[in-house]
Amino acid sequence: MRLDRLISNSTALSRSETRLAIRAQRVRVNGITATSASMALGDADSVTLDGQPVAPVRPRYFMLHKPAGCVSATVDAAHPTALDLLRGEPRHTELQIAGRLDMDTTGLLLLTDDGEWNHRLTSPAHRCDKTYRVRLRDPITAGAAARLESGILLRGEKRETRPAVVEVTGRECRREVLLTISEGKYHQVKRMFAATGNLVVGLHREQISGITLDPALAPGEYRPLTPAEVGSIS
Ligand code: URA
Repeated sequence: MRLDRLISNSTALSRSETRLAIRAQRVRVNGITATSASMALGDADSVTLDGQPVAPVRPRYFMLHKPAGCVSATVDAAHPTALDLLRGEPRHTELQIAGRLDMDTTGLLLLTDDGEWNHRLTSPAHRCDKTYRVRLRDPITAGAAARLESGILLRGEKRETRPAVVEVTGRECRREVLLTISEGKYHQVKRMFAATGNLVVGLHREQISGITLDPALAPGEYRPLTPAEVGSIS
C-alpha cells in the first residue's frame, strides 16, 4: 500500500493533509523521515505520524446501540444517521450497515467495511439468527405464537416465513416476547405480528447470531467488536 493511502485510511487526515504532513517531516517509516507520499510499503514496515504508530485500520467491525429516531442509512437529508454516530472514526463513511433497522427500532446494529463478512451476515442463504425484544399492543395468544413458530404468510409474499422461536418473557402480561428469526424481510417483525392481528409498539434487537448487544453501551454509543465476536460469523 502507498504511504499516503495508509495514513489517510487510518487517521483523520485526508490525502492532501497527509501529503502536507509528509512535507512537514511529521511522518517516519522504520524510524526514517519519509519524503515521498507514493512510497510503497511492505507488511513489515512501521509508520509513525507525530511519533504515534499508524496501523492499517481495515477491516473494521463495530456494534452500535442504535437509538430511536436515527436512520440505518449512510446519508439522509432529514434525519440523523447511524453513520453520523461513528463520525469520530477515520473514513467512517466507508462503513456499511449489516442488517438495517427501522427508524423507531432500537438496539444492535453492526457496521463494517468488510464486504464478505457483511454478506455472510445478511445473505438469506446464511440464515443468521436475529433476536428481537418485541412489545405488543395485545397479549400474545398461544395460537399466534404457534403460527409464528411454524411459519406465516405475510401480505405480498409468495412463501411463508421460516419457523421462528417465540419466548414469552413473563413480563407485561404476555405483551412482551423474544422473537428469533433467521430472515430479514422488509419490516419483517412488524408484519409477522400484524399477520396475527396484533401490533408491535416497541422493537429492540438484542442479538445477531453469536453477537449480543453490550449492556454497557447506552443508546447512541458504539464499540469495536472483539476478535471472538468477529470470528463468530463464519
Ligand atoms: N423487523 C421490523 O419490522 N423492523 C425492524 O427494524 C427490524 C425487523
